[in-house]
Parts: sequence; structure tokens; C-alpha cells
Amino acid sequence: MYKIAVLRGDGIGPEIVDQSLRVLNFIEEKYQLDFDIKYAHFGGKGIDEEGHPFPESTKSIVDWSDAVLLGAVGGPKWDQAKDRPEQGLLSLRKHLGAYCNLRPIITFEALKDMSPLKLDQGKNIDLCFVRELTGGIYFGKKERIDDLAYDQKQYETYEVKRIAKKAFELSKKRAGKICSVDKSNVLMSSKLWREEVEKMNETYQVDLNHMYVDNAAMQLIMNPYQFDVILTGNMFGDILSDEASVLAGSIGVLPSASIGDEKGLYEPIHGSAPDIAGQDIANPIGMIMSLAMMFQNSFERTDIYDFIYKNVNKTLEDGYGTVDLKLDRKVTTREWTDQLIKNMQS
Ligand code: IPM
Ligand code: MN
Repeated sequence: MYKIAVLRGDGIGPEIVDQSLRVLNFIEEKYQLDFDIKYAHFGGKGIDEEGHPFPESTKSIVDWSDAVLLGAVGGPKWDQAKDRPEQGLLSLRKHLGAYCNLRPIITFEALKDMSPLKLDQGKNIDLCFVRELTGGIYFGKKERIDDLAYDQKQYETYEVKRIAKKAFELSKKRAGKICSVDKSNVLMSSKLWREEVEKMNETYQVDLNHMYVDNAAMQLIMNPYQFDVILTGNMFGDILSDEASVLAGSIGVLPSASIGDEKGLYEPIHGSAPDIAGQDIANPIGMIMSLAMMFQNSFERTDIYDFIYKNVNKTLEDGYGTVDLKLDRKVTTREWTDQLIKNMQS
């Protein structure tokens, strides 16, 4: 029995989560598994229903679960809220101790020529961000005093060590190559970061290089083929992973896994897209692949990850895509999932 907390969240969150749960139901039958699902309010929905983006009732459901599936949070409606939906997300990540955010830039074959960038079709992009998720400038001291405001960026050795370890271990399963991104020519916290990563490589001995974040932003566009594992801090990882999504053709197809020493949190990397919410046109792939990452990371079922990946790929190859994908067969969120499930059945 797998216990799953489902936080549908805001904007397009509910629609994409609902489609991913249809996939979950299919997997449950096909693999004869048993899922126990509990829904909880989160983000703006948490504020509306229970007065807080991460209410106590949600906390208990999260604590009960083996893994957490999350749609997206936020929207203009809550921009002025005392505790914004985004704050709920940060608290959830912290609560779970999910300090490691894996963001693979999956380049589906059918979407290869969809990027606005001139990519080399003969070469393969296969990179994965390992983003530190519970520290850095997101969690440092912050204050507003009249005309002054600051956000402190800080990293402690143990925080760098544990995220670096995840990156090194991942790189051993991949190409044995890490690019660690920092700004150590200016920032003290980056200096510590670089030192610790360098030290750890004495044990792991992978092909490690360091890059300043400004250069990395350029290199991702100039020559994305050079990267395999990109290890970086919280905010640099946030920014660079959105940038890198352009390589995949649409940010709508990209999943993430936030893991730590305990249970994982699985959410697409995109936001709640309030402008297209409720229209059944959102791309469900990032959410469905996040579900796939749940099987891979929380339940050690790489076979199920592969099964979902293969069928998502096939559905795209068949020419089905939501409006953000320039494919021949334009379909709605629900219809796209219909096609996916059809492929899974055959
Ligand atoms: C993400 C999002 C979040 C982040 C926001 C919503 C707090 O942009 O998951 O990338 O910055 O981490
Ligand atoms: Mn982001």
C-alpha cells in the first residue's frame, strides 16, 4: 500500500493533477498496486479554505503519506496575502526536509525541433539539475525596514555536503560528470560551496568543473550538450532550470522531484499559469512525468517510470499535443491524457 498526499493547489494545478491521477489509476490496475490517496488544501486554496497556505490539516495528511504530489501554487488573487501561497511551498519543502530538487531536462524526440533555439539535431541534450532546495537566499534572514530591504544568502557546510553528495551519487549513475555552478568570484557563500564540492570530489573522483552562474546561463544556450549533472544552489537553480526548459521545447513538459532523507515531493517545474486556468488546455506532461519520478524515487519502481516515459513519448510521436506544443493534433489536457492511456493499454 502506497499512501499519497495530493495537493492540487491553484491555477492549472487541479486540472493537471486530475489527469495525472487517471494515469495513477491505470498504473494501480496494471501493476496490481494499492494506492491510498488523500487530498489536502494547499497554496491559495489553503488560504481560501483554511486561512493558511500550508494548513495544519494538510500537514497531518503530508505526515501520514509516503509521497506528496503537488500541482502548482500561486496567483494574482493572493499577491497581497500576509502569507503568500509560495511561502506555503517553501514551508512544505522545509517540513519534508526535501533539500534536493532534481530537475531533469527531458528532451522528447518529437519535440526536438520545437525549441526557439537553433539546436544541433545530431546531438543529444541530457542534463539534470541538482538544485539545493531548503537553504540559500530563499531561507536566509530577510527584513524590510522602511526604505531598506534585504535577503541574506547563506550556506552551511553540512548543507553543501548533503546536496553535493546527491549530485555525486547521481553522476555515478549517469555520465560521471558534474558542473557545479556558483558565483565564487563575488560571494562568500559560493566560496564555501566550491571548496566543499571540490573536497568531496577527492572521494568520488568524477569529471568535475566549476562555472560562474553568469557564464553558465550563457553556456546553457550556447552549448547545452556539454552538461550532464548541474549542481547548484537554490536561487541559481530556480533561474537556470527555467532557462534550460527552453531546450525541451516547453516548460510544460518538465517534472521535478524534491527529495531529502525522508519522503519525496513531486511537482512540475512550471507555475500555476492563472491566465489559462480552467480552460482544459494546460500541458499535463510535466505533472505526469512528476508522477513517474515518484515511482522512480520514492517507490524504487524504475520500470514504472520507464513505462510512463515510453508512452508519453509515443503519444507525442503520434502527434498529439496541447496548445503550447507545435504538434499536428491539437488536443485538450483531458484528451491528451485519453491518448496517453490508450497507448498504455496497447
Ligand atoms: C519553482 C517555483 C518556486 C521556487 C516558487 C513558486 C516559490 O518557482 O518551484 O521553481 O522559486 O522554488
Ligand atoms: Mn521556478
